[in-house]
Amino acid sequence: MMNILVTGGAGNVGSALVDRLVSDGNRVVVLDNLLTGSLTKLPQNDNLTFVKGDANIDSTVSELMHSMHFDYVFHYAAVVGVQRTLENPVMVSTTSTVSGISST
Ligand SMILES: NC(=O)c1ccc[n+]([C@@H]2O[C@H](COP(=O)([O-])OP(=O)(O)OC[C@H]3O[C@@H](n4cnc5c(N)ncnc54)[C@H](O)[C@@H]3O)[C@@H](O)[C@H]2O)c1
Repeated sequence: MMNILVTGGAGNVGSALVDRLVSDGNRVVVLDNLLTGSLTKLPQNDNLTFVKGDANIDSTVSELMHSMHFDYVFHYAAVVGVQRTLENPVMVSTTSTVSGISST
């Protein structure tokens, strides 16, 4: 069993990954601000912990990192779509990188 953090785990890609990780017996923490994601996408599982928070806030990420000692981090928190990118270019850009972890 591994400890795994999935940012954006309530989104389309992240939730599919979370589903597989918990069914494989891992302990998973999802960090998501629910901007576009939904709790309904997450499986009900004792090994899953949901944390509502912003992956762009260093203190949120650092507190989780220090308390949980993750074996792996999957960064899927993102603001996607052409319209959202045109309307929020800075937010789109900052969300794709979390404290040195880049999804691009
Ligand atoms: N959907 C695809 O087919 C696909 C394919 C390849 C790669 N990707 C990449 O996967 C990533 C996720 O895409 P998706 O389709 O799952 O998008 P999505 O919008 O379904 O999921 C993104 C998740 O991130 C969360 N989020 C947004 N900002 C956040 C923040 N600041 N802090 C915490 N959570 C935040 C949203 O609430 C949402 O749950 C993107 O980088 C995308 O480019 C997607």
